[in-house]
This record gives sequence, structure tokens and C-alpha cells, in this order.
Amino acid sequence: MKRIVFATGNAGKMREIREIMADMDVEIVSMKEAGITVDIEEDGDTFEANARIKAEAIAAYTDDIVLADDSGLEVDYLNKEPGVYSARYMGEDTSYEIKNQAILDRLLGVPKEKRTARFVCAIAAVLPDKQVLVTRETIEGYIGDKPAGANGFGYDPIFYVDEYQCSTAELTEEQKNAISHRGKALRAMKKLLHQYGF
Ligand code: IMP
Repeated sequence: MKRIVFATGNAGKMREIREIMADMDVEIVSMKEAGITVDIEEDGDTFEANARIKAEAIAAYTDDIVLADDSGLEVDYLNKEPGVYSARYMGEDTSYEIKNQAILDRLLGVPKEKRTARFVCAIAAVLPDKQVLVTRETIEGYIGDKPAGANGFGYDPIFYVDEYQCSTAELTEEQKNAISHRGKALRAMKKLLHQYGF
């Protein structure tokens, strides 16, 4: 059976990709399960570049299909910050309670129509012949006035979606995956892999 190695150590992401790709005739394993450990410097200046850097670094160790993702939050009023620096914003070890409050403070008094934001996710695939495929999807929303919800992670408590009139931290994992940047990018990648015969 063909294998896909997904470049993540995150259990939630593994669950999501396994669910989305369940009907493909492939086994999906994490980097750790594939026995690959590699320190990768994500120094690209776009989500697509970083996803590709990760996927290609791992593909050097295997001829399985390798998938990697890179994602983050773009806040329009802040010139699309934190963007590709989402994980590193204010320092990697700073809690999201502090990061989220800092973004709320920077948007103090800014009306809803100027608080637009999006989560972006790029997925890169390296095929066994080392061809690279990339998908990129977004979920559009806005930065609320205060944090809400305990689900999800990262910037979810301050990112609100019109469809549900609540933050993505107030959605169930299933509701979020159905509309999220990562869910959409993974489904687009599945379609693309299918077109390439996988
Ligand atoms: P990575 O692509 O897993 O490295 O994620 C980059 C960073 O973007 C995360 O650490 C979060 O800060 C942020 N991020 C990406 N996707 C989400 C999401 O769905 N919810 C909240 N934060 C996210």
C-alpha cells in the first residue's frame, strides 16, 4: 500500500488528515511513525514557500508521498501581521492568551468592518518522483472584541466567523474542520493527488 508521510507532530492535524483522506488507498503516517526526525528552518516568506521547504526536507529521507502544511493568521488592519510569523509572534514561548490580548489591544476602537482577518493554510506535497504540488486555502473572518471559547488552539478565541456569529474556539472540531483553511486545503490536495493517479 502507498504511504503518505505527514510532516507534523500534532495529533489533531493527524486526526484531520486521516479523516479527510480515509477513502484514499493510502496509509497515512506521521513523521515520527515514519522514523524521520529533521530540524527544519522555516525561513520562507510565504505560507506556500514554508510548506514546500518542510515537505522537501522530509522527502530527502523517503520515497513515500510527503505532505507538509504551513498556516497562520492575517489581520488586514495590521498589514497582514502576524502572517508567516504567527507561531513566532511576540516569541515562540509567549502564551496565546498574551498574543491574543496584544492583537485585541492593537485593534482597540477599530470598527468591525476594518477588523477583517483570515486563517491561511498552504499544503505542499512531494510525490515519489519529487514533483511538488501546492494548495492554498483560507477561511475569512474578523477579529472580535474579546476572546471567547475553549476549543481549538492558537488564535481561535479571537477569530470570529459570520456564518456562526462566534469564534472558531466556540466551534466543535467537526464544525471547524468543515470550514477551516486546513480542511479546505487538505481536501483540495486530495483532489489534486487523485488527478495525479493517487
Ligand atoms: P503551523 O502551520 O502549525 O506552524 O501554525 C502556525 C501558527 O498559526 C499556529 O501556531 C497558530 O498560531 C496559527 N494558526 C494556524 N492555524 C490556526 C487555527 O486553525 N487556529 C488558530 N491558530 C492557527
